[in-house]
Amino acid sequence: MGYRALLFDLDGVIVSTEKNHFHAWKKTASQLGISFSEKDNEALKGVNRVDSLKHILALGKRIVLDEEFEALLHFKNEEYLSSIEDLCIKDLLPGVFDLLNLAKNKGFNIGLGSSSKNAPMILERLEIAAYFDVAIDGNGVTRPKPDPEVFLNGAKRLGLSPSECLVFEDAQSGIQAAKAGGFFAIGVGNPWLIGLADDYYNSLTEFSLERYA
Ligand code: BG6
Ligand code: MG
Repeated sequence: MGYRALLFDLDGVIVSTEKNHFHAWKKTASQLGISFSEKDNEALKGVNRVDSLKHILALGKRIVLDEEFEALLHFKNEEYLSSIEDLCIKDLLPGVFDLLNLAKNKGFNIGLGSSSKNAPMILERLEIAAYFDVAIDGNGVTRPKPDPEVFLNGAKRLGLSPSECLVFEDAQSGIQAAKAGGFFAIGVGNPWLIGLADDYYNSLTEFSLERYA
């Protein structure tokens, strides 16, 4: 125990934007004539934009030219952004606001480790950017999850070792990243993670910080 920092994934842990990513990818896939289910989407959670599109193309055994690839990335992001236009503090997942406040009051460092390039804008819209001592997003890594770089950068910026940080994740790729980096990996809100994560909670409302202090 004796943890000193909480490192949060964004989509699916802090806010339920995973379903928005899924619907935007589904529309993108259907443009290509590729069927894309929620089960297929499980492999994309936590995966960055470029690798997600590569995955969908591989699913449909499709190859596209660079120009079309870029256009598809743009289309997906526009679909995603228009679906979250009304995002606000009310969209925080249950337990997030209380945990951020409790962690701050108890002197924990708070960090973000997200694959999303939209993360800074989303934190602002949710009105929680000020809680984060460090925020590493999809713009700040060279190797995406499941590589641990995003979380290692976060810990380094906080001046802490991975063994002093708890990571909260809803995605298989994120749990793999956390564990590969030597972090204690807490799965949240995705039963596929039971058995993979070091601990698992259906919701952050069930999480007790005292247990890890
Ligand atoms: C992750 C999501 O947080 O960010 C993925 O889990 C998403 O579903 C990825 O593809 C990249 O997001 P963005 O906003 O940069 O397209
Ligand atoms: Mg996530």
